[in-house]
Amino acid sequence: MHVNSESILSVSSLTKSVQVEDKTLTLLQPLNLRVAAGESIAIVGSSGSGKTTLLSILAGLDLPSSGEVYLKNQPLHQFNEEQRSQVRAQHVGFIFQQFLLINSLTALENVMLPAELANLPDAQARGEALLEQVGLADRLDHYPSQLSGGEQQRVAIARAFISKPDILFADEPTGNLDSKTGQHITDLIFDLNAKEGTTLVLVTHDPKLAARCQRQVEMDSGILNEKANAVVTENVDVESASANDVTPETSTSQVG
Ligand SMILES: Nc1ncnc2c1ncn2[C@@H]1O[C@H](COP(=O)(O)OP(=O)(O)OP(=O)(O)O)[C@@H](O)[C@H]1O
Ligand SMILES: [Mg+2]
Repeated sequence: MHVNSESILSVSSLTKSVQVEDKTLTLLQPLNLRVAAGESIAIVGSSGSGKTTLLSILAGLDLPSSGEVYLKNQPLHQFNEEQRSQVRAQHVGFIFQQFLLINSLTALENVMLPAELANLPDAQARGEALLEQVGLADRLDHYPSQLSGGEQQRVAIARAFISKPDILFADEPTGNLDSKTGQHITDLIFDLNAKEGTTLVLVTHDPKLAARCQRQVEMDSGILNEKANAVVTENVDVESASANDVTPETSTSQVG
């Protein structure tokens, strides 16, 4: 499947509009985007510019109003919720801006859930190892309501890593963390990129996090622009791209 080293994500003429009472609100203007396998890309832009809206569609959580979204060559825009959830379970990790942990599950159970849904082996051992890596080894049995915002965010990060996604979407992954913890989490995310060839699509207001990405794009009132210092997609490290292609769910090495 070395075809995929060209692009893991390919978007053309994507738009999003919503109906609010009798008015149509345009959230995303027609946009195109290609992300190479193994690439890291930051989506920046002011509050309300459409970053979360875009990320949700790229990850198959929401549908565009028009246009095409191919993830791992699969046409998400033509898929129903069931089909999209299968693609997500197999290929996608997502760190939500609002974490979206399940309140009735412990930290460990939250982290294990995607692995269990995807029938991956060693869910518990991996979940424990990941929670240790994000500094929560002593919080395994705590419920979200017993955790601080930053701790919940770290649980959400561990959860996104557990199924060894081909592509990680993260919406402000360091937004609620102090700078030291944020740095540690950033290192973890880029370790995943380096060691597993995981493609990173990060929404961030943090210039340091954005600067670590190979490429930056900016949302401005629903319009996507490539930032001037962008690295062209073709220059992406071919080694990590092809490593990504041959590293499906069967690999059991640790994340970071
Ligand atoms: N379902 C919806 N119905 C109506 N308006 C919406 C809906 N979802 C998002 N919006 C609006 O679309 C715009 C973009 O929202 P979005 O959440 O994508 O912004 P954002 O760039 O992620 O902002 P932030 O940096 O604050 O998280 C906002 O003005 C928001 O109010
Ligand atoms: Mg947002």
